[in-house]
Amino acid sequence: MGPDPESARDTPNRLPVLAQAVSAPLTRAAIFLVATLNPGCGACVTLRSFCSDFPKLLRAIEFRDLEGGLTCVMGVGSEAWDRLFGLPRPAELHPFREIHAGERHAASTPGDLLFHIRAKRIDLCFEMATQIMARIGSAVSPADEVQGFRYFDDRDLLGFVDGTENPRGEAVTAAVLIGDEDACFSGGSYVIVQKYLHNLEAWNALSTEMQERIIGRTKLSDIELDDSIKPTSAHNALTTIVEGGREIKILRDNMPFGCPSQGEFGTYFIGYSRSPRTIEQMLENMFVGKPAGNYDRILDFSRAVTGSLFFVPSATFLECVAEGQSKVPETSSSSTIEENSSPALSLLDGSLRIGSLKGETHHE
Ligand code: HEM
Repeated sequence: MGPDPESARDTPNRLPVLAQAVSAPLTRAAIFLVATLNPGCGACVTLRSFCSDFPKLLRAIEFRDLEGGLTCVMGVGSEAWDRLFGLPRPAELHPFREIHAGERHAASTPGDLLFHIRAKRIDLCFEMATQIMARIGSAVSPADEVQGFRYFDDRDLLGFVDGTENPRGEAVTAAVLIGDEDACFSGGSYVIVQKYLHNLEAWNALSTEMQERIIGRTKLSDIELDDSIKPTSAHNALTTIVEGGREIKILRDNMPFGCPSQGEFGTYFIGYSRSPRTIEQMLENMFVGKPAGNYDRILDFSRAVTGSLFFVPSATFLECVAEGQSKVPETSSSSTIEENSSPALSLLDGSLRIGSLKGETHHE
């Protein structure tokens, strides 16, 4: 049995929809934890029960140091969504689309769940990851875990300041949070992650001027190159998406990571957007090129070894998921906008017209 849109429409309940902390400020430390969901009903039961406890767990660890700025965003992959929640499903949720172009490969790798944990201190991130795994360890298999750190002046390991052109203020909400276009999932977001490994020896052998023409900005002062000298293959040219005369922004929180003794130097790319199409278009431009062949030269020095796409449901959605609870409280887009006292959650007026999350449409 599917959801009952009629009863959802008629419901008297009106709740504001709270987004997860997608737009949390850049932090000094982060852990990116990707896991796959184990087979069987038991794993789904564990996960659904974890979803509703997740905000409480986060609050408990956050409270140990309120200055530490701990946030954690949970994302769910396409197949896992069907197993955990069934219908309705987010309109644009699908598996990560692999790209092969010449020597370049945007790999698609397994990932059912993403935890993007951020804080000023790595110990807070570490504690959060530990507590998550203590709760769901029997239901998932780890796919990848990366500990990222903020590098000098917010630079990546290629030596360039990374994050400058992120949207700020109210533009963030418009860029990353779903609104009326998919009313059941308003307050949600899409996120794509990719783990890049750099050949730093080859990169550092380039002149600074050549590096600047690849990135499209000056290295020391982080100023955008003038269009008269910026190549059309520059990274910031290929990742600028304009639709109907309007630039469509995404929110990035890339982090350097690595292991110098192993010669491992990387950038963990993470991009949030209101529609995955925007980031997919950027990837197409980077890997295939715009026009084809005019690709991003960062990729001559960096390879993407992972790639996954997740949907980030609203915090309200997660709090409403509970095993044994057949109906999620429904809200309407006509609900009142209220101020939220928690800095970790931004408030979004929207609707959460979810029918049953249990026992009706699971693909088990
Ligand atoms: C090896 C991985 C990557 C590195 C080292 C990297 C680095 C950078 C740097 C240094 C900038 C310029 C400063 C800034 O505006 O933040 C930048 C801009 C940007 N990057 Fe990346 N990036 C990587 C991958 C990606 C990917 C995979 C995407 C999207 C699919 C992307 C999207 C963007 C966007 C949208 C901008 C801003 C463009 C603008 O409006 O000027 N980046 N990146």
